[in-house]
Amino acid sequence: MNSSAAPAAAREALRRAVRVVVFTGAGISAESGVPTFRGAGGLWKTFKAEDLASPTAFGRDPRLVWEWYAWRRETVGGCRPNAAHLALARWILGRAGVTLVSQNVDDLHERAAREAAGEGGDARRAEPLKLHGSLFHDHCTRCPHRQASSPVDAASVATLPHCPECGGLMRPDVVWFGEMLPARPVEAAFAAAAEAEACLVIGTTGAVYPAAGVVHTAKASGARVVVVDPGETEFDALADVRLVGPAGEIVPTLLK
Ligand code: OAD
Repeated sequence: MNSSAAPAAAREALRRAVRVVVFTGAGISAESGVPTFRGAGGLWKTFKAEDLASPTAFGRDPRLVWEWYAWRRETVGGCRPNAAHLALARWILGRAGVTLVSQNVDDLHERAAREAAGEGGDARRAEPLKLHGSLFHDHCTRCPHRQASSPVDAASVATLPHCPECGGLMRPDVVWFGEMLPARPVEAAFAAAAEAEACLVIGTTGAVYPAAGVVHTAKASGARVVVVDPGETEFDALADVRLVGPAGEIVPTLLK
């Protein structure tokens, strides 16, 4: 398809679909100032994932891991949803049948949903199924307790967050390398993908599994796949339409 026909084809695929699954990655938050993982300036270029985002790393040096997450919280906490998050949230609240699935832990989709729904509005439909957890929650390493995050003092292991229920060490509520994804959002995401007539993919290389399987499931079930990304992705070969460029420019126009 030539590039001038692509936006119309993408709009048509979304318009005709009764059910749509939207799959997002770090790229949708890039224009908010949140670093991506791969590519120039990506977090995994500067830091080693296995030293910071794995159960082994946490077991070895919980203070260092917490220091890194405290830094990420501070960086991401100062960022705001951008035009792509907001357009997506408004679009989802304005029509039925859309399931938003995200690999992001930055909570910017939730914040956009609240902004789009307005005071007293119901933002829940525009909140994502979070496959990789949230930077802004912690859970206990010993018992099932989970809580919203509060400021972390990573001076020593003793000052790190501890569980109010059992005294165990708390950890960030994110999925680390080698860990299982949370069952409920994963099941709901794959179920939505299997039923969707269109799949809108925004800002992800599609390199991380099982999350990337959501898009393959949608495609295998007959969905038209629209990919929005300024770079190359693992989904390019299966995409029906590629919109090449930044999400903050493309998504608001696409979903207008
Ligand atoms: P990546 O860093 O792998 O990919 C980011 C994608 O965003 C790339 O395809 C970029 O081209 C694209 N991108 C950059 N700027 C963009 C913009 N302005 N608009 C749209 N797209 C843009 O991030 P993910 O694919 O999300 O996992 O990474 C997947 C997982 O790998 C993450 O959830 C994380 C990481 O390890 C865990 O932490 C478990």
